[in-house]
Amino acid sequence: MTALLEVKNLTVNFRIGSAIAARLRGQPPPDLKAVDNVSFEVERSESVGIVGESGCGKSTIAKAIVGLVPITAGSVELDGQPLTEKRDKATTRRIQMVFQDPGSSLNPSLTVERTLAELLTVHKIVPKKEVPERCGELMDLVELPRSLLPAYPKRMSGGQRQRVGIARALALDPEILIADESVAALDVSVQAPILNLFNSLRRELGLTLLFISHDLAVVRHVSDRVVVVYLGTVMEDGPTEQVFNDPRHPYTRALMAAAPKFGVKKEPGKSALTGEPPSALDLPSGCRFRTRCPLAQDICAASEPELVESPTDAEHLVACHFGWTDPRT
Ligand SMILES: Nc1ncnc2c1ncn2[C@@H]1O[C@H](COP(=O)(O)OP(=O)(O)OP(=O)(O)O)[C@@H](O)[C@H]1O
Ligand code: SF4
Ligand SMILES: [Mg+2]
Repeated sequence: MTALLEVKNLTVNFRIGSAIAARLRGQPPPDLKAVDNVSFEVERSESVGIVGESGCGKSTIAKAIVGLVPITAGSVELDGQPLTEKRDKATTRRIQMVFQDPGSSLNPSLTVERTLAELLTVHKIVPKKEVPERCGELMDLVELPRSLLPAYPKRMSGGQRQRVGIARALALDPEILIADESVAALDVSVQAPILNLFNSLRRELGLTLLFISHDLAVVRHVSDRVVVVYLGTVMEDGPTEQVFNDPRHPYTRALMAAAPKFGVKKEPGKSALTGEPPSALDLPSGCRFRTRCPLAQDICAASEPELVESPTDAEHLVACHFGWTDPRT
C-alpha cells in the first residue's frame, strides 16, 4: 500500500556566497548540502519524529515537504503523487505546519478570532455564517476557552499562543501536521500539556503527524517512529520503542546519553557528543559521523554506510558499517 507521505532520496542544496565572487576566484560557488539523499515514509494516522542536532537539516526537510524551499533532487509524494513547489490551494491545505516561535508566527495586530476567521474565509472552509462557530470549535479542539477569541497574542502566555498556532494550522482541516520544534521555545512545565494535545488531536482527528525536535525525549512522547538525522542524512529509522530500547547507531546512542528524561531540565554541558559536527560544506569522506564516532574504523573513512535493515526486523534501519555487527568482531 502507498504511504500517505513519501520522501524519496530528497536532496536540498543551498548555494552559498555570490556567483560573481566565485567566478572572480575561478571556482563555482559552493553548495551546502542541507539535506542529502533522505528517504522515509509516513503512513496515514502515524506519528513520525525527526530528531537531530541543530543544523542537521530538520527544518529544511519540513520546508521541502510544504514547498517552501526548492528540491535539488529526489521527490516528496503525497498519496503517490509527486508534489511540485507550486501547489494549488487544495494541496496546500492537506499539509500544514506549526512553527517554533508562537510569538513571532502570529500577527500581533489580529485577535485570535480574526486570525482564524481570515483563514476560514479565504480558503472557504465553511460558509461565512458558520465562521464564528467554527472559530469556537477550533478553540475547543486546542483546549482554549472561547473567551480568548477576542484576545491579542501579546496578552496570552507562550503555551496559549502555541495552542493558537495549532488551531490556525487545524483551521485548514489538514491531513498532515508538521510540528517544527513546536515546544522548544516553551518552559519545560508547559511542554507536556502541548505534547499531550498533539497526541489527543491525533486520536480525535486521525491526524498524521511529523514531529521535529532536537530533543529525543520530546520526540519519544509523541512518535510511533523515529528518524534520526545527522548532517543532512538519515542515520537510524525505526519504531520508537525499539530505537529507544536498542539504539543501533553510535549517534543515536550519543543523543540518548545527552537527553535527560522528559520533563527534566538538561544539566548544562552534559553531552555524550564531543566536538562540533563538521561543516556541511566540507563533509568527511565515508561515514559523515566518523570524526565524532567512538567506534570508527578504517572502513568508516573509505566508504559511506547505507541504511540497512535489521536482519530480524525490516522496520528498523541503520546507516553504520557495524549497525548489526560488533566492530571488534
Ligand atoms: N536559506 C538557507 N541558505 C543557506 N543555508 C541554509 C538555509 N537554510 C538552512 N541552511 C543551512 O542548512 C543546514 C540545515 O539547516 P536547518 O535549518 O534545516 O537545520 P535544523 O536541523 O532545522 O536546525 P535547528 O535545530 O537549529 O532548527 C544548516 O547548515 C543551515 O545553516
Ligand atoms: S560507520 Fe563507522 S564511523 Fe560511522 S557510525 Fe558506524 S562505526 Fe561510527
Ligand atoms: Mg530547524
